[in-house]
Amino acid sequence: MKYANNILETIGNTPLVKINHITKDIPATVLAKVEYFNPGHSCKDRMALKMVEEAEKDGRLVPGGTIIEGTSGNTGMGLALAAIVKGYKLICVITDKQSKEKMDILRAVGAKVVVCPTDVEPDDARSYYSVSKRLAEETPNGWYVNQYDNPANTQANYEQTGPEIWEQTEGKVTHFVVGVGTGGTISGVAKYLKEKNPNIKIWGVDTYGSVFKKYKETGVFDENEVYSYVTEGIGEDILPKNVNFDLIDGFTKVTDKDAAVYTRRLALEEGLFVGMSSGSAIKGLLQMKDEFGPDDVVVVLFHDSGSRYVGKIFNDDWMRDRGYLEEEVKTALDLIEEHVDKPLLTVRTEELASHAIDRMRRYKISQIPVMDINGFVGSLDESDLFQAFLEDRNVADKPIREIMGAPFPIVKAGTSIDQVSKLITKDNQAVLIELENGNYHIITKYDIINSIK
Ligand SMILES: Cc1ncc(COP(=O)(O)O)c(C=O)c1O
Repeated sequence: MKYANNILETIGNTPLVKINHITKDIPATVLAKVEYFNPGHSCKDRMALKMVEEAEKDGRLVPGGTIIEGTSGNTGMGLALAAIVKGYKLICVITDKQSKEKMDILRAVGAKVVVCPTDVEPDDARSYYSVSKRLAEETPNGWYVNQYDNPANTQANYEQTGPEIWEQTEGKVTHFVVGVGTGGTISGVAKYLKEKNPNIKIWGVDTYGSVFKKYKETGVFDENEVYSYVTEGIGEDILPKNVNFDLIDGFTKVTDKDAAVYTRRLALEEGLFVGMSSGSAIKGLLQMKDEFGPDDVVVVLFHDSGSRYVGKIFNDDWMRDRGYLEEEVKTALDLIEEHVDKPLLTVRTEELASHAIDRMRRYKISQIPVMDINGFVGSLDESDLFQAFLEDRNVADKPIREIMGAPFPIVKAGTSIDQVSKLITKDNQAVLIELENGNYHIITKYDIINSIK
């Protein structure tokens, strides 16, 4: 029989999957190390277990003890699996920026979740760093994991993720691109790969609102770089000991919007339902496309699963509220798509009003353009006719020329709906659209109302 003795034995050996569409402009082979195949659905299962095992070895964690950690969710999940199998209690300290799903998932696997404010200084007593430390001191047999500075974090990736990438690519990997939070993933993988081949380039993906990129480039820890951002899991306002800047060749920064948009694209175009830092990672890789040649093998690591972000990235309202949805701009042509095949009904200046009334009644229309040999010279709508009727009961026998209003404005097919809408007023009931084939069509306010979905 082939089975794992417990869930912890299923950690690691995640697949490497080729990216086929999003990276089509990159000459290199791009392979994603898809870490949501781990049992806790993220890369962090590896380091969580390693940190627990190391703490057990040197007595920091005693039987029946309590594991305490400040975690954005994924490390908490990994720690929870270890705690369940090994019989420990777990308290996760989390910031209020994290998705509700992450908190619910942690509770589902037995963790006690303490939520702290995001927008406070790291040394503020309310910050999740400070609260984690305080809880560890106050809790009997409590052990504060501190994934930021705990060397077992890097070590797990040095022992597992790095060798897996080396073996899966048969040593052909030339570049490794990954989002950086605590630094454990990048530093562990970088150490292993550079030991195997010092020419392999290691690129970190950072966010706007984080200190890493500037620190790497200038050696300056610039507090002006710190502000709140939306992307979860990467970027920091501190320098964790696990970020080994000497092993990292450079950083690129990705905006929150790009991270969100590219996370959706990974799901839609590659079938990879991954989390937001994976969107950052692939966008960061695309930003560096000039670094890669046709023989290169670029490995990008996707930390976690999209299921933890269904209320955020995969929710249209959440995306729209932040201006992240790239909604199609509708044009004048889109407004008439349902009736563009029908001919435009018109009347001539010298026809009698009764003809116009007859045509409007027969085709159930409320307005009609008026033409003479020079083109569009006027318009008639229900209110023009009603006004004319009030002035003269014999209006039906009058030529249209005498009762018509101003011609409808003419727009091009590509004019935006916003611009078209502005042209429709109380005094002007329609707009004419000039089609590419030289014909004209009419847009009424009903077309605009119909376009609102
Ligand atoms: C979703 C996600 N992406 C990226 C990272 C960054 O990985 P590391 O902490 O190893 O730098 C984390 C770490 O918490 C994460 O949870």
